Amino acid sequence: MENKIDHDDIGYNDTPNEHFSEILDKRISRRNLLRGSVASAMSVMMGSATLSACGGGNNNDAPVITKPETPTPSEKLLGFAAVGKSLADSVVVPAGYTATVIYALGDPLTAATGAFKNDGSDADFDNRAGDHHDGMEFFGLDSNGKPSANGNERGLLAMNHEATTNEKLASFFIHANGGTNTLPRPAAEVDRETGLHGISVVEVRKAAGKWEYVKDSAYNRRVTCLTECDISGPAKGNALLKTKYSKDGTKTRGTLNNCGTGKTPWGSFVSGEENWSGYFFRGAADDAARNDKSVAALKRYGRNQGAASRHGWETGGADDKYARWNNSKLGASADGSDDYRNEMNGMGFIVEADPYNKTRALRKRTALGRYAHESAAFGKTVAGQPLAVYMGDDSRNEYIYKFVSSATWSDADANPADLLATGDKYLDAGKLFVAKFGADGTGSWIELSISNAAIAGYAGYKFADQADVLINARLAADAVGATKMDRPEWCSVNPANGEVYFTLTNNSARTAPDGPNPRTYEDMKGSSKQGGNVNGHILRVKEKDGNASATFQWDVYLFGAQSDANPALVNLSSLTADQDFSSPDGLAFAKSTGICWIQTDDGAYTDVTNCMMLAGLPGSVGDGKKVTLAHASGNVDTFVGKTPTADTLKRFLVGPVDCELTGIAETPDGKTLFVNIQHPGEGTAGANIADPTKFTSQWPSNAGYGSGKRPRSATIAITKNDGGRIGT
Ligand code: FEO
Ligand code: CA
Ligand code: CA
Repeated sequence: MENKIDHDDIGYNDTPNEHFSEILDKRISRRNLLRGSVASAMSVMMGSATLSACGGGNNNDAPVITKPETPTPSEKLLGFAAVGKSLADSVVVPAGYTATVIYALGDPLTAATGAFKNDGSDADFDNRAGDHHDGMEFFGLDSNGKPSANGNERGLLAMNHEATTNEKLASFFIHANGGTNTLPRPAAEVDRETGLHGISVVEVRKAAGKWEYVKDSAYNRRVTCLTECDISGPAKGNALLKTKYSKDGTKTRGTLNNCGTGKTPWGSFVSGEENWSGYFFRGAADDAARNDKSVAALKRYGRNQGAASRHGWETGGADDKYARWNNSKLGASADGSDDYRNEMNGMGFIVEADPYNKTRALRKRTALGRYAHESAAFGKTVAGQPLAVYMGDDSRNEYIYKFVSSATWSDADANPADLLATGDKYLDAGKLFVAKFGADGTGSWIELSISNAAIAGYAGYKFADQADVLINARLAADAVGATKMDRPEWCSVNPANGEVYFTLTNNSARTAPDGPNPRTYEDMKGSSKQGGNVNGHILRVKEKDGNASATFQWDVYLFGAQSDANPALVNLSSLTADQDFSSPDGLAFAKSTGICWIQTDDGAYTDVTNCMMLAGLPGSVGDGKKVTLAHASGNVDTFVGKTPTADTLKRFLVGPVDCELTGIAETPDGKTLFVNIQHPGEGTAGANIADPTKFTSQWPSNAGYGSGKRPRSATIAITKNDGGRIGT
């Protein structure tokens, strides 16, 4: 029941950087302020995922120009009945709601592309929906198909296709016999696998009361991990980006392992490149071949010499599209223009796309730094003030970052003629900061600048210039003593007050607890013991003064936990059976209702429930209290937000077996919420590919969608049967 494969659960941060419990200031308080334990009854599974629909959708992090509709007078936020935990192979939504599958792995995106047979015979994935649907944003269209911020019944979904389901090398669900798990990989298999990574833009519309995707829309687009992209910002043309493909370091191919997303205040789509490093191969003697500082950088980003790649794509043949996955120094040039020794430096950015124009190349926004990006959340826009972009680096013990633009915001840019030129203005020049958290509930943003003596003189890596600092942001953050966090996933800005929420999904390597990462404990999953911060938490930050603030206040909105866990050390938020969750990952505030949607990507509580989605109505930083955790290693203080009630936190949805919930995009009227179900059935053994009864999931075919029984990542549209807003 728990073949959970978490390719994201990795860590490369070996620096002695404080886990800031070591940061002193540790209080020696004996108080134990924890609330009483919460007994809770098993909740009952209810709801169903069937067919039907209505609604429209737009989404999260960026200030948006649309006016929320006047709420229906009778509506009550979180007025739905909580969904119980579930192990069923279905999407469970509250009574009165309907979830409709609209767009799944392999669905054709051109009129000429054949229907997806889902038996391992399909190819041509760069004309089909990619795999592992992830972060997603809605971009409205009017009834004539023109861009419109008020489109509620027609629009574009721009979404990430993060990865594909593999047990060994091959993505077994997309090859007839499960594929080849030895090297070399056949070119035809590699082409399918590279084709289903990247991004898709797909038109969706409500027709005859039901949402559907539009197969032959002129807007439909695929970007794969081989599509040419422009390098933009301070690192454009830098020596570290020169390759055989781009001898001047201004272009690269593809975007890879895209996870969280964002929507800019000017209306474009941004996407974070997350665990790209595992896709590259490095030869066993590459350290000696390089014999320079690049060895330290590669190691810090997770590529030791001899590291095998996730899929073995570098073995697909002599063509350059396969060779580029070999990150070894193979050529004789001094600058790397005759091989792909620098290829990995072209991944790890926030990329920006114009969702309405498929002819324009994506731009990699290097000013925002290179790491395992998740979402990019924009602080509230204030005319005349700089923009802030908040971001996390998802690996164990990595950091939280903020970019502050040089340009100050002009309201005239909220609806510009050229989205990417506006992106150039705000995202190509500015300062990058990393977070350092204090034990007292405050924290500071430290600029990552080559003029900082700690960075310029760092013993671990000799930075050449500011572009080097951005490309190797993790090393620069090490140099300034940033705080190691419990795997920062998505972030989102609360439109009500500008506070920034970060999911910290879990951290099996958390041994030294500190204020913002205060838990390390043992949890049983069946007979296996799990340790560290098993269930994750949601941190929030309140800037002291606006987007450019150098300091902030923090607390923990919610601690993930089983409802029956120890209330003094684990269930610090007193979650009930209707609220308990583990491993928060996707998180976004709905513009229409202000609801904070929380999604899980869990492997710890999956003996009891599949991954889920919750609706929260949070207060603000500081609305709870200080709590002292009495660990065996000593006491640790933290700050926990106000205990949620049945009216402020409630489970809304549970997904099918072995999936994670991700992607949160609503129509501007709040009446349709689009959500992604990623990798259902990923725990299936590849050897069982011929026997559907042994698949751990057959979703969405068991919900009536599409051919074949192989499970598929897919987008669902959630509507309320009475036509009301989602979450009421
Ligand atoms: Fe792609 Fe960090 O999850
Ligand atoms: Ca457990
Ligand atoms: Ca994620």
